[in-house]
Amino acid sequence: MTENAQALWHGRFSVAPNDDLMSFTESLSFDQRLWNDDIFASIAHVRGLEHSKILTSIETSAIVSALEQVATEFSTEKFVFVKTDEDIHTAIERRITEIAGEVGGKVHTGRSRNDQCVTALKLWTRRELMVVAKQLLGLCDVLYSRANQSGWGDDAVYLPGYTHLQRAQPVLLAHHLTAHAWAFARDIDRLLDTVNRANVSPLGAGALAGSSLPIDPDFTAKEMGFAVAFGNSLDAVSDRDFVAEALFDLALIGTHLSRLGEEWVLWTTEEFGFATLDDRYATGSSMLPQKKNADIAELARGKAGRLIGNLTGLLTTLKGLPLAYNRDLQEDKEPLFDSYDQVTRAIAAISGMISTASFNADNMRRAADSQLLAATDLAEWLVRKGTPFRQAHAMVGALVQRAISGQQSLRDLVASDQQFGVEAASLIGDGVGVRQRTSKGASGPAAASLQIERYEALIASLRSRTSI
Ligand code: ARG
Repeated sequence: MTENAQALWHGRFSVAPNDDLMSFTESLSFDQRLWNDDIFASIAHVRGLEHSKILTSIETSAIVSALEQVATEFSTEKFVFVKTDEDIHTAIERRITEIAGEVGGKVHTGRSRNDQCVTALKLWTRRELMVVAKQLLGLCDVLYSRANQSGWGDDAVYLPGYTHLQRAQPVLLAHHLTAHAWAFARDIDRLLDTVNRANVSPLGAGALAGSSLPIDPDFTAKEMGFAVAFGNSLDAVSDRDFVAEALFDLALIGTHLSRLGEEWVLWTTEEFGFATLDDRYATGSSMLPQKKNADIAELARGKAGRLIGNLTGLLTTLKGLPLAYNRDLQEDKEPLFDSYDQVTRAIAAISGMISTASFNADNMRRAADSQLLAATDLAEWLVRKGTPFRQAHAMVGALVQRAISGQQSLRDLVASDQQFGVEAASLIGDGVGVRQRTSKGASGPAAASLQIERYEALIASLRSRTSI
């Protein structure tokens, strides 16, 4: 950083700003990642000024080529900041004036940093949310390919499904893995919705009220590929809904990753023993030589708190703000960048962890073949014979009570009971239970083909909406 220059707004001030003010109010340290978007929007703005005949084509070319040179300086890491650069916008404007001379001072015609900063952030958000959507599609593919490997048919891998984390009914491993993919598919759809709503250009709103110059917000909106320009200048510079929505989307993705992570923490314990992590995706202990820990899964769970915090923080910042721009709005960027960085890293790590792990099918099957998991099937067997479900529930419950008191197995009790008998007892046996769930969307092999068809259609439509 070199010392020189004055603040862009030095005119009405008699002395330079205090260092403590600068270090407290600057945003350059975090908004420099917007350099590319700011230059892109500035080029559109300058072309708009030319279109409205506010700038000549010579002036326009001079400013555009200075902006392009600045872009090269950034991409080759040669750009030098100076002490008075408060944010990326002032830094770029200062530099183009250094490069192009006086004409550089025309870049800010009809524009304020208030519409400029929100335009750059919208461009960033619109692009990067699509990156997250594509990455999530990759995670869905990992889950679905592991699901297909474990099978959907009669010889497929199955495990206990849980409610209250107590064994409930056997489910296909494929069904369980795909359940998470259905949630991530909703996340992708939500990201696409957010991008769609954010597709409104705020450029041309000026500081708050528009301009007396004949600028054309529709022209610049089109230049930047936005669907439309803003309808109300006050709203355009104050709106951070797209940041709040993005933070919500990222927090919910984080919540889904956290729930999945919690399962993998359990599955990789010796107690469960359902999955073994590849050594590349597990960590050791500095003191306990035997340890192999699922840190990716734990941190996927741990980061969710921070992602929810980022959303809560921004909403709290927004809730008290009068129209239009207030400096508080500068607080929009750090939580957004942080949530984005954390979520994209988490998706990559979780995808790798799942694609390389091995499933311990024998342990899963053994746990799911526990006789008590057939209890609901026995009650439904009675229902098919005409017994009201509540009564059937109580009859099976009574046999379960006897079985857990230890005298006889549930299967033997059912076989010798006159209300049930050997036909009902045949519902208790290795691999029998998972085949009983046949209804639409259910967890058994008979219902699988319909789910597969719907899931594949959903992913195909998300894939085509994502690759625009
Ligand atoms: N760095 C500021 C932000 O990110 C830019 C806008 C500053 N506007 C102003 N009038 N001070 O919000």
